Amino acid sequence: MDHVVTIQDLADDEIASILDRARELLPVARGEERSDALVGKILATCFFEPSTRTRLSFETAMQRLGGNVIGFADSRTTSHLKGETLADAVRMVAGYADAIVLRHPQEGSARLAAEMSDVPVINGGDGAGQHPTQTLLDLFTIREELGKLEGLTVGLLGDLRYGRTVHSLAAALARYDTTMHFIAPESLAMPRRVTAGLPDGWSAHTTLNGVLPELDLLYVTRIQKERFPDPEDYVRVAGAYTISAETLRDAKPGLRVLHPLPRVGEIATDVDETDHAAYFRQAFNGVPVRMALLEMLLGGD
Ligand code: NCD
Repeated sequence: MDHVVTIQDLADDEIASILDRARELLPVARGEERSDALVGKILATCFFEPSTRTRLSFETAMQRLGGNVIGFADSRTTSHLKGETLADAVRMVAGYADAIVLRHPQEGSARLAAEMSDVPVINGGDGAGQHPTQTLLDLFTIREELGKLEGLTVGLLGDLRYGRTVHSLAAALARYDTTMHFIAPESLAMPRRVTAGLPDGWSAHTTLNGVLPELDLLYVTRIQKERFPDPEDYVRVAGAYTISAETLRDAKPGLRVLHPLPRVGEIATDVDETDHAAYFRQAFNGVPVRMALLEMLLGGD
């Protein structure tokens, strides 16, 4: 494995080893044990779009493994502003670091970067494309919370059109015999380019009511305001799908609610106090999972 541009770049056994290794690394991720696995290695985090969790958890992961980090969180401080192309920038950074995490507003940017780089490129989100490392931490969280990945019934809710996390997650869940319900306003339905790659076992809905009682997992997403070509379209759908403790009354007691975060009102804070809420544990899981991935890519033990 060289680059991680889409979740399809990872074979089933690679995903399984990352999840197993992430579990072993939990004490290191929490700072209770030390690791020198990546001493002398440098990770570049190049973020052309806002990020809190992805960038910081990659940086923590690298440093907990003894490695170093360079990068930028605001491309306005780089030569991007002078008109430098992404291709040129990546070529340069590949000479400064042993791996690159790239987040960029343009779909396909991570693929282009991978073609230009002779060190591994990790896609940290490319526009409305994919977010494969979020998917790895989502899979890890599902397995930790529900004890297994196989044969679950999962609802993906919210902005399924522009939300990149659900594009890679749906492709991954398809490998585990998952029954998937896609719940979104018609204008934000799961794109055909994603559903075309899925086996039977998924269905589309505009409301949660009918499917909620069947779900083992509900994955909620933010309406991706910044990707709407027309702001009026955003206003029309904003706030359409809000989950509260009351909404979850008819759910299975063991239902887990995940969200890649940030949430901007899709999940009311009264859900936080219920046994359903797993999204803050999910956000922490970014650290051990990204540690496992970096170890695999950068040749740690
Ligand atoms: C997501 C993203 O950037 O796609 N955030 C994240 O990485 N946890 C989700 C979002 O921004 O809505």
